[in-house]
Parts: sequence; structure tokens; C-alpha cells
Amino acid sequence: CGIVGIVGNQQVAGRLVDALRRLEYRGYDSAGVATIDNGVMDRRRAEGKLFNLEKKLDAEPLSGTIGIAHTRWATHGVPNETNAHPHFVDGVAVVHNGIIENFSELRDELTAEGAVFTTQTDTEIVAQLIAKYRRKGLDNRAAMLAMLNHVKGAYALVVMFADDPDTIMAARFGPPLAVGFGKGEMFLGSDAIALAPFTNEIAYLVDGDCAIIHRNGAEIIDFSGNPVERAHQISQATAFVVDKGNHRHFMEKEIYEQPEVISHALSHYIDFHNHSTKAIDAAIDFKSLRGLAISACGTAYLAGLVGKYWFERYARLPVEIDVASEFRYREMPLSKDQAALFISQSGETADTLASLRYCHDEGLKIGAIVNVKESTIAREADAVFPILAGPEIGVASTKAFTCQLAVLASLAIAAGKARGTISADEEKQLVKSLAEMPRIMSQVLNAIQPQMEALARDLSKFKDVLYLGRGTSYPLAMEGALKLKEISYIHAEGYAAGELKHGPIALIDENMPVIVIAPHDRFFDKTVSNMQEVAARGGRIIFITDEKGAAASKLETMATIVLPNVAEIIAPMLFSLPIQLLAYHTAVFMGTDVDQPRNLAKSVTVE
Ligand code: G6P
Repeated sequence: CGIVGIVGNQQVAGRLVDALRRLEYRGYDSAGVATIDNGVMDRRRAEGKLFNLEKKLDAEPLSGTIGIAHTRWATHGVPNETNAHPHFVDGVAVVHNGIIENFSELRDELTAEGAVFTTQTDTEIVAQLIAKYRRKGLDNRAAMLAMLNHVKGAYALVVMFADDPDTIMAARFGPPLAVGFGKGEMFLGSDAIALAPFTNEIAYLVDGDCAIIHRNGAEIIDFSGNPVERAHQISQATAFVVDKGNHRHFMEKEIYEQPEVISHALSHYIDFHNHSTKAIDAAIDFKSLRGLAISACGTAYLAGLVGKYWFERYARLPVEIDVASEFRYREMPLSKDQAALFISQSGETADTLASLRYCHDEGLKIGAIVNVKESTIAREADAVFPILAGPEIGVASTKAFTCQLAVLASLAIAAGKARGTISADEEKQLVKSLAEMPRIMSQVLNAIQPQMEALARDLSKFKDVLYLGRGTSYPLAMEGALKLKEISYIHAEGYAAGELKHGPIALIDENMPVIVIAPHDRFFDKTVSNMQEVAARGGRIIFITDEKGAAASKLETMATIVLPNVAEIIAPMLFSLPIQLLAYHTAVFMGTDVDQPRNLAKSVTVE
């Protein structure tokens, strides 16, 4: 999941591990590093966290000024030491992110020719192929290109050769890869954050690029060997200090950062003085649109689902929305009077990118709501809507979610204004409410923290939890369930409250708490009826509501969390806070790895 390479002028093993640490946030289950010293290529690999790899390196250090390193998130083959990268075959070392789709046919072919495979990974095929072409007499560069012309799939690859301690080669088709320019040394990394301590001068490879780096520069060619130019940019990543501050986990830090980052996000889209929306990027003409297609994965998808309610209500714009892994294959009929919006924190999610390309080929204008402005999804969009949340390190998304919501709300209001579906007065009221949000979020975070911590202890005793909500609280119920299951491993489902009686009601008993998200909005009475159905069957209720809602409901609950009364448009952002804190404290109490939950990755660049 994370890749680093250095052709350096000082010892690299420690620096490679430091860079891997900066990529830890992406999630991984094994790690490895390889270097070349005095003509000898050697490696250390370990299952589990980087700590295990460091122990091995302490016991048996690796020397050398050239090296590559990797954190692996298993796709083919279990996460053990044998399957950990780098893979070595006959003096060729390879690290890889992604999936080689035709690996089993290539493996059969090579096995028939006598090759012996030592791992279950798809990556080994890359090393085997290069080794085969070298045996046939091709030089390293020609062997690399021959390999690239045989593998199919999605990959970021970095390759080192025992017989050439001055060169690292890399290729991209899918997952991101950046070349970093230093003084007398050069770097490769999955992102600018990994390379931030070494350099801020970066060139991102694009699909179909092969980079050959030496100590004093990089040559970038296509897979046929023709030179290509990639612009150098100065990365902002160094400006951010990736540390936890006074917090126990990145997730906690990111939850508490929300008031601040949301005001950054909002100030990009709304004018705090005049209480109006700022003009939307003209590449998407909301005025003339007949519909909007939204696609995303995970938490970003759930933000999109809230956005659908807003675009339909305020801009009277019909929204088609789907998870990107379905969207990309649905062969959905689309027309040019629709625009497409893609939401992605990383801007690199493979399914979201594929959906974007589908819509692009159908001739739609593309908008991207992203956190990483230099990402592939941002680069391929006609209009980029940054969420300005700053780097999000915790695998479970928190501040990116609420910033995505803030951007979607602003866009929906701006679209409503452009389409004449809201009045100037309504716009003003909505924007005023958004402008109040950072302050109210701060108050809420401080006010509810002790209660959430105490409640988390109770919640940790259960095996299953149901979340219910109506309207924009329905996607929030799903997000609450997703957060809880991701980091505490407690099974949780989010349901539309009205669907309760069509299935989940069969599960209600005292062993499955029901978390009801219900501000005192248009749907409140309906949701209270659903709560009654739960109570009548002995279900325990955790009620997340506002002051008016708390006063109006007479039901007995396991706990009631009371937020201030706020305008409907900001309720989803505000009600995100208790569900984030509840998941966080439950996971902390249960002792799970909050920032890097098992089996999950931050940036999913494979299908
Ligand atoms: C992974 C992450 C989630 C994230 C999803 C989409 O599953 O663990 O937190 O919501 O990918 O990622 P994106 O970068 O496209 O928002």
C-alpha cells in the first residue's frame, strides 16, 4: 500500500523506514526493505507493524545508499513474511501496489518454461518476467519495458537491480507514484507526504509512465521507450506536521480539528460577510443541468448520499448516486445535460476514478470533491472542489466527511441560487447557518465528550448495534454504523428508520442497542413512532437528538445525547460528532488499533 525508493548519498535503510512510517496511515499488514551494498542486494521483511521490521533491522542491519521499501496490504496471498515485498528473483527486486490481473496465466506460462515461484503473490510475476528477459539478453531497461508490455492490471511498481547500484526504475498504471528531486539524490514515493522530509520538489507519474532515476536526475519514458515530460511541482506536504499533537490518536486529533478545517472549507465557498455563496467553477453550469450523477466509495459515498437530499431539495436537481464499484459497471444511460460529481478524500480510489472515466467518455462535465488537490481524480476533473481538510491520517474518515458535507451543502445552495429554486433570502439564511457551524461544532465537541466516553463503555459490551435515521439522518445512520464497525469491530447496520418494520425489527431485543439519530426536524414524529416500535419490543435506545427533540420525546432510553437546536442544513455535520466520538471511544475502550484498523486501507487503489 505504500512505496518508497531512494538512490541516495548516505545510508538509506533508516530513512526508508521513516518514509514508510509516514505512509502508515494508508493501512498495511506487512512491511519490507531492500538495499544494495558492495554488489550485494539484501532485504528484511516482517509481518505486522513497522515495529517488527525495525526489530529485524536492529538485529541484522542493512547498509547501502540505494534501497526500496514497502508496506503491503494483502490482495493475493496472506500477509506473512514470505509474501511481504520486496520480492527477489535473480538479482531483481520489486515492490508493487495494485493487482496484476493476468498473473495466473503468466505464472502458468513461466512455470511451464521452468520458473520456480516462491510466493503466492501476483507481484512475484513482475520480478520473474524481468528476470526472464534479462536471461534472454535484454539490458535492465529493455527488460523493464518488456515486462510492462506483458502485465495487465493496476500497478505502481518500483524495481531495483543487484548489478546496478545507481538506478531505480518505476512505473505507474493506476495507483499513484511520485518522483522526488533532491540534491545528489533522488526519491520515489506513493505520495508527497512520504517524501516530505527529503524534498518538496515532486513530479507525479501518470498512467503509462516509466521513470528511471539516478542520483542526479530522472528520465521519464512511456512503455515504448519514448521520452515524456512531467511538470515539477512544489508539494505543500512539508507544510503540515504529521503528528498527533496532544491527542492519543490521529482520529481523535482529526475529530477535534473539525471546527477549524470546516471554516477553511466554508470560506472557499461562502462569503461570511454578505452571507452569500461564491460563484461555482464555471466548468459546471448548474443552471442548465437536468441531473447530477454522484459516485464515490465508503464514507465519501455516504457524504454524497446526504448531498443528494440537498441538491434535490434546494436546487431541484435530480441526483443519481451509487457506490463507484457498481456505478462503473452499470452501463448507466447518461446524457450531456447531466454533470457528474465524484467525492474522494484521497482522490486516488480506483473504482471512483473508473466511474469518472466512464462519465468523461459519455461526454459529461466532471466535478471532483477531493482533499488531495494533486490527486489523479482532481487532475482528470473539469472542476475541482477542494475540501481543505488537511491530511487525514486516521483510516476511518472523520474530518474529511464533514468537510465533504460542508462543500456539498455550499454547492447545493449555490446551485439552487443559479437555478432560481431558492430565493435570495433563503440563500442568506442557509449561508448564515453554515457560517455558525464551526462555533457550534466546537461547543458540542467539548460538551458531549464525557458522556460519549461513558456511553462507549456500555456500548462495548454488545455484539450488534442498529443505527436508524430519516432524511439526511439516514445516510448518517449508515456512517455511524460504518465508523463503529471499522474501528471497534462491533457489527453495526445503518437503516432508514421507516424500513425498520420491513426486516431489522426481527432482531430487536435487549442485546442489540438501537442508536436513533433524530434532530427535531420534519421527520421527527415519524422517527419517534419507530422508536416506540423498538421500545415495545424491549429494545434499548440511544437517542441522539436536539433540545426540542429531547423535550418532545417521553420514551425511556439507555442514553439521550442532546445537541443544540440548529438549522436543518447543518444538522448532518453536527450530528456526525457524537457518532464519531462514540465509535472512537468504544474502540479505545476495547483496545483496538484505532488509527489503523485491521484489514482496512486508507487509500484503496485496487478494484
Ligand atoms: C477506504 C477508506 C475509507 C474511505 C474510502 C473511500 O475504504 O478506509 O475511509 O471512505 O476508502 O476513499 P476516498 O479516498 O475515495 O474518499
